[in-house]
Amino acid sequence: MEKLWTGRFQKPLNEIADAFNASIGFDSRMYQQDITGSMVHAAMLAKQGIISQSEQESIVSTLADILAELDSGALEIDSACEDIHMFVEGELTKRIGAVGKKLHTARSRNDQVALDLRLYLREECAVVEELLGEVIAAIVSVAEKNTDTIVPGYTHLQRAQPILFAHHLLAYCAMFERDMARIGDAVDRMNTASPIGSCALAGTTYNTDRVYEAQQLGFGAPCINSIDGVSDRDFCLELMSAFSIVMMHLSRFCEELILWSSWEFAFVELDDSFTTGSSIMPQKKNADMAELIRGKTGRVYGNLFALFTTLKGLPLAYNKDMQEDKEGIFDTLDTLKMCLQVFAPMVASMKLKKENMLAAAKGGFINATDLADYLTKKGMPFRTAYKLTGQIVAYCIEQGCDLESVPLARYRQFSELFESDVFEAISLQACVEKRISQGGTGKASVEAQIAHYKEH
Ligand code: ARG
Repeated sequence: MEKLWTGRFQKPLNEIADAFNASIGFDSRMYQQDITGSMVHAAMLAKQGIISQSEQESIVSTLADILAELDSGALEIDSACEDIHMFVEGELTKRIGAVGKKLHTARSRNDQVALDLRLYLREECAVVEELLGEVIAAIVSVAEKNTDTIVPGYTHLQRAQPILFAHHLLAYCAMFERDMARIGDAVDRMNTASPIGSCALAGTTYNTDRVYEAQQLGFGAPCINSIDGVSDRDFCLELMSAFSIVMMHLSRFCEELILWSSWEFAFVELDDSFTTGSSIMPQKKNADMAELIRGKTGRVYGNLFALFTTLKGLPLAYNKDMQEDKEGIFDTLDTLKMCLQVFAPMVASMKLKKENMLAAAKGGFINATDLADYLTKKGMPFRTAYKLTGQIVAYCIEQGCDLESVPLARYRQFSELFESDVFEAISLQACVEKRISQGGTGKASVEAQIAHYKEH
């Protein structure tokens, strides 16, 4: 297809340079948004008397035909075109001749692509938010069934205090809820300013109505500065940052799933449908999906940094370097959506080995804080109680026993404050149940958390 910009050139573009320059291979996924933007642009041109009413009708109805044919597959995108903007305009002109050539009045591909990308990302973000909602629902479904399941809570990957498994899971709901809010914030900001009408960089001599275009396309207002309108890719960076944080959360959860499904922990067994075997070791059941999500987090971070690096030295306004924005963010979106789609059913279908969780919670002197709290409640200053409990733990290590099996008489040699109620105070159930502070691991608190995530 002949280039739309051939006027001042004596020679055609070198074949390799042509392929190198083209973005149609990846920007064709924005064809719907490109056509939507063009329809609004044509309506604005007619409203302002820049093109006639009948010209607008012809442009808009032909664009509608092109859209329908692309949707149905009746029309194929010509990969010989430079980009999706050229393809749509070229196809329009092929069908209605000179009238089609009027569409690009008071517009440039620079503001066109800045618009298309925003419209595309807006829709994709709605999909991501929905998938995040499904992830939260999947986690809540497991949490609901595990408000009595005790596991060790860890700090430094050392057993710290006993917690409900549901409590641990719900921490991730808090992360994913923030992720949704973060994406929503970025989308809101992206939707405040419409770039269309910035034209190449300097605006236009035509009497355009940018407010009308902004309104029609769902933006708060036209962007204030046309140079910024065509040069800004902050919205991509913000979204890719938010997506990177989602991946980081998924990756942390996946790392835990991988650990928990090892024989060393044996807390969970992932469903057969989300694990794979080994080609040589018949006993293996590998958490490949969880590992892949963890692995793909690297490439999502990479896409973010690639765009940061692309933009850092760019003079204003548009530079072709900016065409590099799309592949990274599209890849990030594809990757993220796939990860979320795999993650939700993988979590919902995992089997828990509750006896192993409880057994682990029983070891490691996990109730030592509660022993210290017991003494504190009987009047001993916490620091003193902490030190004495440390000595009792050391004694138990030496004896090869746990805190529950030290006889009362021996406890009383450590402190007269110990009475027979100490055993109840340090039972695992009590350690969990007594943590009634808001957001804590006590059952009532965990149930309140579940209720929160079911509502939102
Ligand atoms: N394909 C280009 C991109 O993605 C569209 C804008 C081209 N503008 C230009 N002045 N060459 O950035």
